[in-house]
Amino acid sequence: RQEPRDETKEKGRAQVSADIAKFNAAQAALDFVKDGMIVGLGTGSTSAHFVRLLGERVRQGLRIKGVPTSEATRNLAEQAGIALLEISQVTSIDVDVDGADEIDPAFRLVKGGGGALLREKIVAVASKSMVVIADESKWVETLGAFPLPVEVTRFGFALTLERVRRVLRGTKCAGDEVVLRTSGKSNEPVITDGGNYSLDAHAQSIPAPEDLGAALKDIAGVVEHGLFLNLARTVILGQAKGAVIKAHESF
Ligand code: A5P
Repeated sequence: RQEPRDETKEKGRAQVSADIAKFNAAQAALDFVKDGMIVGLGTGSTSAHFVRLLGERVRQGLRIKGVPTSEATRNLAEQAGIALLEISQVTSIDVDVDGADEIDPAFRLVKGGGGALLREKIVAVASKSMVVIADESKWVETLGAFPLPVEVTRFGFALTLERVRRVLRGTKCAGDEVVLRTSGKSNEPVITDGGNYSLDAHAQSIPAPEDLGAALKDIAGVVEHGLFLNLARTVILGQAKGAVIKAHESF
């Protein structure tokens, strides 16, 4: 007799194996951190592995300073014993290690699923090199299946949302649904670390990420969007055992 499928168990197993892959990616990224460096500390579950592992290295004597990309990461890094710098105290960051929601073969990223994209982008742009850590499922042929986060001012957000929809259509994205990110039982809008709202743009497929990124930046009310273009130099894809390290050919 065939046993009935236990979907909860299967989901649980998939989550555990994704988490092992995230851990393996984070571990491989430690090789990119050298003594004396200023390190951008990303946000999300993969970055959390990295921060804890980096904390272990610090306890073993590695001397680095971290710049966190969110309040959540700041707390985690403090617990891990990593000395921190404010972004206002640095002019340049040696290496930024951060996760991603999607990565395409040109190393273009969708980020911000965890709501930290503004600080993540400021830190990535200030870094000499960005190392992306992710489980293999984040590698995609075309960006867009994961809803693109867009951070917007609270003032006039409904108008901004409509403009984002228009821009999705104008840049030939497959979908144009845009929703305000909410949480909790009462569906309160999520407030970012920067005090803004977050929209999720269900583009489904983004044929021209550069065009979409430029058009979004042009909308008054858009603070930043989750397309990270021309920033990642290295992508580390964690697997069940170990990790694959990919280097961008033009860097
Ligand atoms: C946080 O705002 C995001 O950009 C994360 O880096 C991204 O969502 C990846 O998160 P996980 O590491 O949890 O998959």
